[in-house]
Amino acid sequence: MKTIHVNTGRPYDILIGGGLLEQAGTRCRAALPKAKKMAVVTDSAVSPLYLERVEAGLKQAGFQTLACVVPAGEASKNPKSLSDLWEAFMAFGLTRTDAVAALGGGMVGDLAGFAAATILRGVNYVQIPTTLLAQVDSSVGGKTAIDLKAGKNLAGVFWQPSLVLMDPEVLNTLSDRDFSSGMAEVIKYGCIADRAFFDFLTAHASRVAIMETVESVLYTCCNIKRNVVEEDERDTGRRMILNFGHTIGHAFERLGNYETWTHGEAVAAGMWDAAQIGFGLGVSGGDDGGMQELKELLEAFHLPTHIARLGGGLDSRAWNAVVEAVGLDKKSAGDELTMIFLKRIGEAVAVTGKKDAVLENLAAIYGRS
Ligand code: GLY
Repeated sequence: MKTIHVNTGRPYDILIGGGLLEQAGTRCRAALPKAKKMAVVTDSAVSPLYLERVEAGLKQAGFQTLACVVPAGEASKNPKSLSDLWEAFMAFGLTRTDAVAALGGGMVGDLAGFAAATILRGVNYVQIPTTLLAQVDSSVGGKTAIDLKAGKNLAGVFWQPSLVLMDPEVLNTLSDRDFSSGMAEVIKYGCIADRAFFDFLTAHASRVAIMETVESVLYTCCNIKRNVVEEDERDTGRRMILNFGHTIGHAFERLGNYETWTHGEAVAAGMWDAAQIGFGLGVSGGDDGGMQELKELLEAFHLPTHIARLGGGLDSRAWNAVVEAVGLDKKSAGDELTMIFLKRIGEAVAVTGKKDAVLENLAAIYGRS
């Protein structure tokens, strides 16, 4: 088992290792010695696979449990689900020394984390991520949120978990598509912070090869995230580099109504576009700013680089959605936007510029000049 200690305002450990799901009870008991009750939030896809096991372990460790199962899918990350959870927690008799567990992917983690952060002005919560995407990104760093009609993750707070339990064995039940989606975030870490890791991924460019060394892949990603989050817990500076590919990625997700493309697919295409814009703006060095290498690695994991490009260019509806999403991005202020580009593979930089300049470059990429 590998352990990463995250030294944020409220410090916590990330535990990575096979068999940790079975040990959820004892591990949670050690992290939360005073808690008597644990509300386990999960979704309809994960509950048949892992809920019984986790609840049994928690009960054995002396927790009284409540299972809260929301429908699988991003659509559950809404205000109604949040208030339903609040009511369920209160009916269960949750107190401030009790806790919430998020058992599932990013949707469950974000929703359950936000519910934990806001009930009784904040109770502890444990992340038990069951997707690759949640393990390498959303379960670490304390971002919690729900989606609004205006866009994704627009209502939320920073609320660090008390413990993150990462059992790589749960990845075996993921579909190939969901595994690839998580690989987009894995590749992101190589792009923004670790050239050697990018090369490692290039040399292990298949699900089988990644799973053979999965504990160390998870460790490398979470350790990069730990380093960034410790330096900038509240996302006002360096943490923004974790959003490489996300500004345009969020536009694609929204365009597809959060259904057509997974988060990872949208981010993959967003990273490729950001790499091109960075090169076009002269931010990236080298012959092509690493664009070809990035494209090849994304494609090796069956990730798209050209979504939302219809007939070689974007149609008006798609283009308007991209323009709107750039305007709504949380890193925008007035007519300026901060976007993450690659200086080279392994080093990211945040560049603040006029939204119009970003849109001009996007227009050129999408053939809409
Ligand atoms: N997912 C980006 C972050 O946690 O900052």
